[in-house]
Amino acid sequence: MWKPPQRIKFHSQLGHPPSAEQAQASRLFSPVSVGPLTLSQRTWVPAMVPWRSNDEGWVTEDVLQWYGRFARGRPGAIVIEATGIRDVPSGPLLRIGHDRYVEGLQRLVQTIHRESQGHTRALIQIIDFLNIRRRPEPAKFFERFLRITPRLREALGAQDWSEEAVRAHLSQMDPGQWPTVLDAREWEALHMGARERVTDTQWPHIQELPQVLPALFAAAAGRAQQAGFDGVELHYAHAYTMASFLSATNVRTDGYGGGRAQRIRLPLEVYGAVRQTVGPSYVVGCRYLAEECIDGGHTLDDAVWFGEQFARAGMDFVSTSRGGKFDDAKQPGVGSSAYPYTGRSGYECMPQYLSDEQGPFGRNIAATARIRSAIRAAGLDTPVVCTGGVHNFDMAEAMLERGDCDIVGTARQSLADPDWALKTSLGLGHQVRLCEYTNYCEGLDQKHKQVTCQLWDRQDLDEPGLRKSIDGKRRLVAPDWNPPG
Ligand SMILES: Cc1cc2nc3c(=O)[nH]c(=O)nc-3n(C[C@H](O)[C@H](O)[C@H](O)COP(=O)(O)O)c2cc1C
Ligand code: SF4
Repeated sequence: MWKPPQRIKFHSQLGHPPSAEQAQASRLFSPVSVGPLTLSQRTWVPAMVPWRSNDEGWVTEDVLQWYGRFARGRPGAIVIEATGIRDVPSGPLLRIGHDRYVEGLQRLVQTIHRESQGHTRALIQIIDFLNIRRRPEPAKFFERFLRITPRLREALGAQDWSEEAVRAHLSQMDPGQWPTVLDAREWEALHMGARERVTDTQWPHIQELPQVLPALFAAAAGRAQQAGFDGVELHYAHAYTMASFLSATNVRTDGYGGGRAQRIRLPLEVYGAVRQTVGPSYVVGCRYLAEECIDGGHTLDDAVWFGEQFARAGMDFVSTSRGGKFDDAKQPGVGSSAYPYTGRSGYECMPQYLSDEQGPFGRNIAATARIRSAIRAAGLDTPVVCTGGVHNFDMAEAMLERGDCDIVGTARQSLADPDWALKTSLGLGHQVRLCEYTNYCEGLDQKHKQVTCQLWDRQDLDEPGLRKSIDGKRRLVAPDWNPPG
């Protein structure tokens, strides 16, 4: 992962854990309305892909155990990881693209409700993403994948060569010359792996995204409702299709790109279709980027305006993130795919303890606060969820007190200690296992390996019946913690 050049070390702190009485009187542990739903407290576990599903996208026993463990910490809400709305092979990513997934998802909802003793609401994040290929071996790329176009022939002065001769010539060329003869996309396909963009309107399946996606998202949301989820979160963030429509880099000319009113058009149409399917009294919100954090990306001004439009359209919540784009991702190894959390924008999304003067904690707060103020100034009370580097009661309470947000998201802190909020609410905050922001978990995610936390994954490995990682070396869920009494 990219790290700020300053490499200043930051250490997370417990702060001043409240007594049980102080916790009970706090904002963090007070209820909040999200549309028609009430969360028992303002803690929220944002979506995190843990690679616990299988190649068919099912809810497996490991998926149930993973979310059951978070639920025992009784946060206000858990958002299930990015779950694919299409019924296409997607590796071990959860899927909701067909009715056959409903039954497994039902068990997942029941697990969260049961393990939290009814305290935690279960939402699911639904996602669409475009195709990305692994970085190819150059020899294979020139032999099989590259299309030999008239432009390429001209660049090589090879108009009358056979196709085989062109391919062989490219393969044997000094690699330093490749970028001088390949065009930008061909070069990207070779040194990063080919990646589709929403602006590739020369391809019918990309051109027709605005016609196809509303129905796909709506059907997926309908299945989420059928499975008993308390709500859905539309994934409009990071490197994926819907965020790419919102992005300032979206220059489509069909009315779905260019100015911000055109860029938000599809996200609003998707929301409209979802709302029509699930009805007025079902929770629907979105996660989107307060800042894209890439050169030429959308600015906070755009995000403030988007937030206001989402709220005006009737979304029940908006949840913010930042960065996490392919545009500045590092070159992957041959045979691997680019990972959108390896560049500066990736750092902004999941900042780690080696940082700049600003540090890794709360980097998304100021931007989110501006979005929330604009929504309030528009006379709307849509709750806003803010996530990023939050790991103790003091921070969370201060965010709520200042009015930066209404709900506090903690991803890695919840992974490090799924009971952090429960311990804090009971006046046992000094027992919280603090996330150290080393990004060991994110490194596993990058390799599509089962995600665990280094603070607990080697503990009590001899526990009877314990489920372990594929290599048998790590436990898959945090050891249980039993509240006193
Ligand atoms: C292993 C892992 C998987 C993640 N998967 C998702 C995801 O599926 N959807 C999403 O919106 N964000 C995802 N994120 C980002 C987190 O939700 C969160 O925004 C980010 O980690 C910053 O918050 P934190 O500092 O509290 O960890 C993931 C983060 C991690 C560490
Ligand atoms: S591995 Fe654990 S301690 Fe390290 S960043 Fe991830 S959650 Fe935090």
